[in-house]
Amino acid sequence: MTVPLVHAIDRSSLTLRPPGVGSARHLSNLDGVFADAVARAALLADGDPLVYTVEAVEHREGSGALSYGLGVLQPGRVGEEYFMTKGHAHARREAAEVYLGVAGRGLMVLEDLRDGRAWTLPLEPDGVVVVPGYVAHRTVNVGDEPLAYLGLYPSDAGHDYAVIAEANLRLVVLAGPAGPEVVERADLTARGAVRRAERERSAS
Ligand code: F6R
Ligand code: ZN
Repeated sequence: MTVPLVHAIDRSSLTLRPPGVGSARHLSNLDGVFADAVARAALLADGDPLVYTVEAVEHREGSGALSYGLGVLQPGRVGEEYFMTKGHAHARREAAEVYLGVAGRGLMVLEDLRDGRAWTLPLEPDGVVVVPGYVAHRTVNVGDEPLAYLGLYPSDAGHDYAVIAEANLRLVVLAGPAGPEVVERADLTARGAVRRAERERSAS
C-alpha cells in the first residue's frame, strides 16, 4: 500500500489525517523506566493507565527516505516522576532526529552515548529540537495537558531500547513543589531516604 505524501496534524484531536500506523504503551509496557517501583505497582493494580501513543508514517523508498511519528504523551506521574517515554537511541547510531513541539509542555532528556554527557531541552508548541546522532532520547510530559510532538527521522534509524535498559538515562525529571526538577539518577536513593526521614519525623 502506498503511504500518502501529505498528512495534516489535527490539533484538536492530536491525531494525523489520514491516520498513521498507531501503537500504544501502557504503564505495564514500561518496565524499568520509572524509579519508584512501589508507586508503579499501585498504579498497575488500579488499571494500567495509557502513557503514550505514537502514530507513525514510514516511507521506505531507498536509503534517503524519511519517516515521522506523532507522539502523544499523557499527563501523569509515577511517584515523583512525570509520565515519560521508554527512551531509546537509534540502532544506526549516526541517525539524527528533529522533534517539533505540537501541544503541551515537555522536556526532552538527552544523553550522548559516546561520552555520557547528559542534558535536557524544552519541548513546547512550535519549538524545534534537534537530537544529534549518538544521542539517546526520551520525552517527559511536565504539564497538565497531553504533550504532542512530531519526531522526524531517517527511515533506517531504527530503535535500540536495550542500550539504555540496564542503567536507564542518567537524568531524572521529578515534579518538585515549584515545577520540574532535573536530578542525577545516582542522587535519587539519597533523596528518597531524606524524604522518608522527613515524613517519619513529621508523622511522629
Ligand atoms: C523515533 C522517536 C519517537 C519515539 C516516540 C516514542 O525515533 O524518537 O517517535 O519513538 O517518542 O518513544 P519510544 O520509542 O522511546 O517509546
Ligand atoms: Zn528517536
